[in-house]
Amino acid sequence: MSDRGGDTTSGSTSRSPLIVVAFATTTGAAIALTVVYALGGQPQVEGSLLAVAFGGLGAGLVLWARDLVPEGTATQSRPELASPEAELEAEEADLEAGGIVTRRRFVLGSLGAAIGALGIAAVLPIRSLGPRPGNALAVTSWRRGSRVVTIDGTPVRAAEVPENGLVTIFPAGHTGSADSQAVLIRLPPGELDLSPKAAAGAPQGFVAYSKVCTHAGCPVGLYLAREHQLLCPCHQSAFDVRTGANPVLGPAARALPQLPLTIGADGILRALGDFPEPIGPAYWNRP
Ligand code: FES
Repeated sequence: MSDRGGDTTSGSTSRSPLIVVAFATTTGAAIALTVVYALGGQPQVEGSLLAVAFGGLGAGLVLWARDLVPEGTATQSRPELASPEAELEAEEADLEAGGIVTRRRFVLGSLGAAIGALGIAAVLPIRSLGPRPGNALAVTSWRRGSRVVTIDGTPVRAAEVPENGLVTIFPAGHTGSADSQAVLIRLPPGELDLSPKAAAGAPQGFVAYSKVCTHAGCPVGLYLAREHQLLCPCHQSAFDVRTGANPVLGPAARALPQLPLTIGADGILRALGDFPEPIGPAYWNRP
C-alpha cells in the first residue's frame, strides 16, 4: 500500500475517499439523530438513523482494514533500490510539510468525528430517564383514618356489607387509584385465622387485602365464597383470605398485603394506616 496515491505498486487504489465518506455518513446520521431526539423523537426515524450511523461506521472500518491489508499478490519490477539524492530530499520535504500523513490524519479525523457524534447521540437519551421513583413503589394513598369508599365514592358502612360479600374499595379522595385498590370481604364469625397483629386490623370479620396480585400485578377480583379464596384470573393464583391471603395455588409466592381496618363510631369503615408492606409483584430493591 502507498499513502501517496498515484504511485501504488499493486494496481489497487486507495479507498481513503470512500472511508471518509462512510465516516462522514456516520457523523451526519448521528447529528440528525441528535436533532430528531431534541425535537421530540420519532422511534422509526431514530432507529433508521442509528442503523445508518452504525452502518457507516462499520463500512468505514472494513474499508480501512482492507486498505491496510491489500488483497492478492503485488509484483513490481524495479531498478536499483537506492534512492537518488533528489528523491530523498523530496521525501524529506514532503514529511516536513506533512504531505504524506495528511490523508491518514484526514481519515482519523473523520473517524473521530463519527465516534464523537455517535457518543453525543448516545448520551442524550439520559435526559429521558425521568424523575427518580423515590418510595412511590412502597406506599399507597391509604392513611390512618382514610374513609373506605367504593369506586363511585360512596362510604362503606359495616352494616351494609353482607356476609361473604366482596367490595372493591379505595381511600376517600383516591377512587380509581390502581395501587390503593383493595378487596373488602366480610367473613362469618370464627372463620378468620390471623396473627394477633393482623386480627387487630380485621374487626367483626371484615378483612381487606390489596387487589394487586403479587405474581404479576393483575387485579385479584374473583372470590370463591365457599373456599374463602380470592382468585387471580391471569394465572389462577388463589389466596386464602382466612389466613392472611397466603397463596395456596398458582405462581404467586407472596401473600396479598392486608389493609388494617377499624369501624368508626358512625359505622363507616376506616383504615388504620397504609398496607404494612409494598403491594404487587416483587421488584429489584423490595424491602
Ligand atoms: S398475575 Fe395473578 S397469578 Fe399471575
